[in-house]
Amino acid sequence: MTKRRRTAILISGRGSNMAALIAAARAPDFPAEIALALSNKSDAAGLTLAARAGVATAVVDHKIYAGRDEFEGSMQALLDIHRIELICLAGFMRVLSASFVTRWQGRMLNIHPSLLPAFRGLDTHARALAAGVKLHGCTVHFVAPELDAGPIVVQTAVEVRDDDDAASLGARVLEQEHALYPAALALVAAGRVVTDGARTRIIADR
Ligand code: GRF
Repeated sequence: MTKRRRTAILISGRGSNMAALIAAARAPDFPAEIALALSNKSDAAGLTLAARAGVATAVVDHKIYAGRDEFEGSMQALLDIHRIELICLAGFMRVLSASFVTRWQGRMLNIHPSLLPAFRGLDTHARALAAGVKLHGCTVHFVAPELDAGPIVVQTAVEVRDDDDAASLGARVLEQEHALYPAALALVAAGRVVTDGARTRIIADR
């Protein structure tokens, strides 16, 4: 197998997707290794999960910086120190600048709890219910400067049930997220996802 790609996971909160990525990357044939969990919040529960799993952790608290450039400069320095090749945003609640995003173009993924391009932004499960959609779900996409946009890598649809509320629907979507994100990272780390900037194509396993 080729060298495992060194991957950082950026979080702000509970880190359940991060935990799913760490668990998947324990498999010896997984093409990425989780080399760093980085949070912009020192009290993110995910940091404890990462440390317990033996993953290096770091906090870059956006509040102490004069501005976004300085904040992102510190993050980039840490990513360099840890020789990071791929980034997974997993519940990371800061908007990244176009220059940071461009620097990581094609090497930074995000997971979003809806079938994009529907329901960008927050409260996706409540908004899906209010819109009356019958299918909801989750998306892993390459990060583009526009929020919750960028070429879609993979999606999983979840049926909306008559008796769903935002919590029950969100729980079923989250379960799918935990399978989808590792699958997406494996494809990208193995170099099997090509994109023209709008669409992606998955190439067969060599
Ligand atoms: C997930 O629903 C993810 O799709 C969204 O933020 C949430 C993060 O949850 N981007 P967790 O921190 O991974 O548990």
